[in-house]
Amino acid sequence: GFKVNTLLRDTGLVTLDPGFTNTASCESAITYIDGDQGILRYRGYPIDQVAEGASFLEVAALLIDGELPDAAALAAFEQRVGQNAALPDGFAAFLEALPATGHPMATLAAALNALAAWYPDVLDPRDEAQVASATAMLLAKTSTITSALHRRRTGLPLVAPDASNGYVADFLRRTFGSAGGEYAAEPVIVDALEKLLILHADHEQNCSTSTVRVVGSSNATLFASVAAGVNALSGPAHGGANEAVLVMLEKIRSGGETVETFMNKVKNKQDGVRLMGFGHRVYKSYDPRAAIVKKSADEVLEKLGAKDELLEIAQGLEQIALSGDYFVERKLYPNVDFYTGLIYKAMGFEPAMFTPLFALGRMPGWIAQWQEMVNDPATKIGRPRQVYTGATERSFVPVSQR
Ligand code: ACO
Repeated sequence: GFKVNTLLRDTGLVTLDPGFTNTASCESAITYIDGDQGILRYRGYPIDQVAEGASFLEVAALLIDGELPDAAALAAFEQRVGQNAALPDGFAAFLEALPATGHPMATLAAALNALAAWYPDVLDPRDEAQVASATAMLLAKTSTITSALHRRRTGLPLVAPDASNGYVADFLRRTFGSAGGEYAAEPVIVDALEKLLILHADHEQNCSTSTVRVVGSSNATLFASVAAGVNALSGPAHGGANEAVLVMLEKIRSGGETVETFMNKVKNKQDGVRLMGFGHRVYKSYDPRAAIVKKSADEVLEKLGAKDELLEIAQGLEQIALSGDYFVERKLYPNVDFYTGLIYKAMGFEPAMFTPLFALGRMPGWIAQWQEMVNDPATKIGRPRQVYTGATERSFVPVSQR
């Protein structure tokens, strides 16, 4: 390990590490990534096995508690989450007060933050029972709020939760069903969404998770911390990439541009154009999640008979990227979000909803990491230093003399 003693004097040696590319901010036992070999494990379990065999709430329990729950523990966890799905009195009016045309990530962050105002009795980070309550609320209510975001954008009334359908199926029913009407999501869609949420559930110290930890390190509440995580996720260099990929594919299609001319722009760095959904700070080989998503996209689109011209454009872009020098030299491969938007679109979500779906999936990871941070005796308030490059001391000049 490389250690620098910053305590010698305040002006002593500090490491300058923009983007924290080489700085570990914590020890963690939750998620393991080997970026060179494309390995991702949750609590030691390979991502492909987890995505194939577990439900989303099972993965949430694994990430948060550290072990796979047995059947009774899982049933109790599902029941606890299910009981928390309803929104408190007045909350729907709060959501209504925000413009329906605003970006749903702005509303989601505001809504999760506002939960703290409704639940002042579960805010103590040091009280295990309160944290467990806040955890169940966040897992449950994020699904309710996310479905409400879609309903509001499409002008439809909210549908009350019914946890007996299962977490993912009930989320889809509340999102796409009619109030009081029968609705059963296609099993292929339920399975695909379950898998996508699992693939997004944690990814160690990424931008949003680091944000959640830093905010929480000041003893801020779990609600305040994850709301900050939603905001960090919203940017197109992070979670916002799933929406940006679809916008890019639509633009190529409607602009009549060929994949070749678009890729030439990317390679020439013309107007700062990047191939969205490609590249990753940690993965320098194929993102293992992207391989699973790609397979799922093929299956879902085929089973739904929703053959999409955009899928062909995406496949064309990937083929050119992986066969040319630019991407190979820089070790840029598709990341998890290159193909997710195509699946979400086939399910009936509009692009603005893609990043809220990412947030729904990432919620267990944010909570697990926040709890690990709170319980780690080594945790200190997040407070990086800087290398000052401004003026040396100079005398103040009153405004009348400037
Ligand atoms: N398209 C074209 N060129 C790229 C791309 C891309 N998607 N990504 C990186 N590059 C190039 C850079 O221009 C740079 O080239 P240079 O060496 O000639 O200057 C080199 O590859 C390294 O890129 P950096 O930006 O330094 O890599 P960094 O690790 O800081 O960024 C990031 C990672 C933000 C993911 C970047 O690859 C990117 O912008 N990708 C597109 C957005 C995206 O898909 N984000 C989702 C990330 S995954 C997630 O959050 C779920």
